[in-house]
Amino acid sequence: MTETILSTRDLTRDFGPIRAVDRVSLDISAGSITGLIGPNGAGKSTLFNVLTGMLRPTSGEVFLRGRDVTGQSPDRLFAQGLGRSFQIPRPFARMSVLENVMLAPMGQTGEKIWGPALWPSRVREQEHAIRERALDVLAFVTLDRLADQAAGKISGGQMKLLELARVLMGDPSAILLDEPAAGVNPTLTRVLIDKIEELNRGGKTFVIIEHDMDFVMRHCDPVIALAQGKVVFRGTAEEAQANPVLLDAYLGAKADA
Ligand SMILES: Nc1ncnc2c1ncn2[C@@H]1O[C@H](COP(=O)(O)OP(=O)(O)O)[C@@H](O)[C@H]1O
Ligand SMILES: [Mg+2]
Repeated sequence: MTETILSTRDLTRDFGPIRAVDRVSLDISAGSITGLIGPNGAGKSTLFNVLTGMLRPTSGEVFLRGRDVTGQSPDRLFAQGLGRSFQIPRPFARMSVLENVMLAPMGQTGEKIWGPALWPSRVREQEHAIRERALDVLAFVTLDRLADQAAGKISGGQMKLLELARVLMGDPSAILLDEPAAGVNPTLTRVLIDKIEELNRGGKTFVIIEHDMDFVMRHCDPVIALAQGKVVFRGTAEEAQANPVLLDAYLGAKADA
């Protein structure tokens, strides 16, 4: 039996009269790359926001490794190994790529590096450790040669890789990516996919919102579809492709991306 790392029960989020997430119950298996699809406005980003503590649910629960974490702050969830990227990255544009990565919250890794107490004499040592780790992470996402570049000057695709680097600083066990390939050129998308798959082989779980069905069908299993806030499908990529309702309503709606 596969372990469930992240799950929700009847999770609901309203914005005034709009029910953006409607009684969603789902289980994310540890070690999976789960694809989350659905047309614009289906509630995908809102679901991520509620899962990661950016938004409180109107009702329902979120569980991380079986523990009820409903309503916990993003920091607390991140410290427990839940990381996420944003649909629209917002780096500190005038700081360097390296500084942006060094400023990322450290989550689980931070505790290991910083330890229980912080003596002034250890600050430099720790900054050095963070810098080294940031450089390693940048090399992993192939951005090391841009380390000193202003973050506002890099391409949209490179910004997505920078987002991934910032998430990886915390060494999360589950990573939620909101449209990582949107607006990214094929070469960088390939890099991104390779990195996701490498991290996944190393045991990290991914939940990926993506409009590019090719991406989803090739790299995600299982696939979950949302429509009007509700889960309308859960199955393998193959089943998703063979599902006529899904084909018509969502896969055909690829152009909405
Ligand atoms: N902060 C917000 N305030 C009000 N309505 C919102 C807010 N965020 C999302 N919504 C609404 O919730 C619904 C789901 O949006 P969203 O989660 O962004 O969908 P998706 O990511 O699937 O495109 C939409 O109707 C959207 O307009
Ligand atoms: Mg969205």
